[in-house]
Amino acid sequence: MIKNDLFLRALKGETVERPPVWMMRQAGRYLPDFMKLKEKYDFFTRCRTPELAAEITTMPIEQVGTDAAILFSDILVVPQAMNVEIEMRPGVGPFLPNPVRSPLDVNDIIVPDVYEELGYVYDAIKLTKERLNDEVPLIGFAGSPWTILCYLVQGQGSKNFDKAKEFCFKRPDAAQVLLQKITDTTIAYLKGKVKAGVDAIQIFDSWGGLLSPTDYQTYSWKYIQQIIDALKDEIPVIAYGKGCWFALKEMSQSGAAALGVDWTCSAINARYLSGGQITLQGNFDPSRLYSTPQEIKKMTTQMIDEFGKDRYIANLGHGILPDIPVRNAQAFVDAVKEYKPR
Ligand code: CP3
Repeated sequence: MIKNDLFLRALKGETVERPPVWMMRQAGRYLPDFMKLKEKYDFFTRCRTPELAAEITTMPIEQVGTDAAILFSDILVVPQAMNVEIEMRPGVGPFLPNPVRSPLDVNDIIVPDVYEELGYVYDAIKLTKERLNDEVPLIGFAGSPWTILCYLVQGQGSKNFDKAKEFCFKRPDAAQVLLQKITDTTIAYLKGKVKAGVDAIQIFDSWGGLLSPTDYQTYSWKYIQQIIDALKDEIPVIAYGKGCWFALKEMSQSGAAALGVDWTCSAINARYLSGGQITLQGNFDPSRLYSTPQEIKKMTTQMIDEFGKDRYIANLGHGILPDIPVRNAQAFVDAVKEYKPR
């Protein structure tokens, strides 16, 4: 039904002419048309207005030609729906005036009716699907429960999310209650996204790599596995964990259709750790898009040679940086599209 189904075929592990390509955080940031909209509407207005969200989602499809679209939204709309006030401060990022710091605070967090609180996301998906006209698949997403907890407790971005870790290790019972509430909400939220029409789901565990391998199991993976279990029979799920190479073996046995890897793990190690059968996605260093278009093309081709063209989705290892020139992002996408197996 979808005209360019390379991405969906790679998720199924089918043989493809060339790997599909998309870029994490491709909707917005580095695109001049997005910056124009940003001057007129604040961040959550862009998320909450289906016309704006659909327009931003389709920009990278029209302007750089990626093989999949990812809905313009944010992982933090989920905790907002759980009764937490979250601001997006220009130049700063997420800011929570009242972060979660005690077991009592956890009691105030609700598991909402997602259709009531997040209906605007479903409307944005339906409108985006209309606009995409089945040209490319649409990816829906959510943050991992651990990554959401990081923001809920820390109250803002951080290099090490020390307050989040302190809360987990001093108040493990309350932390587990909080993680389970986020998990239950996320499962309902993602089931709604599937109903609204997305073609695949990605879980972003952006801060999973801050945990030790043992704590990763207890505070992050356990909950991601619940989400995969709840969704895997309905839709392909991609699990992306930044810095989580140590968990690739377990992740490969989870029922996820694909695993995201960052640039600190080589293709050969990622294939080895994940058992060689599952589709992998990644892992170009986003900062490497500062190189010349010529260098970018050479390195991208090399990356595909290393991963192999099948069971592979070309992507960055984390989100695209805001000041990357569009022509450099274009060089990355073009290199994948021009790939010829040797
Ligand atoms: O991939 C896409 O382009 C789709 C849209 C998308 C956004 N955020 C839009 C956004 C997605 C998939 C996200 C996920 C997200 N949001 C993550 C996980 C992925 C990652 O990069 O680690 C995280 C941790 C967040 C939380 C968040 N949102 C932060 C830390 C910030 C501020 C810093 C930044 O990245 O710019 C945001 C704001 C945000 N979310 C912007 C965009 C386009 C930039 C702010 C703006 O446009 O006003």
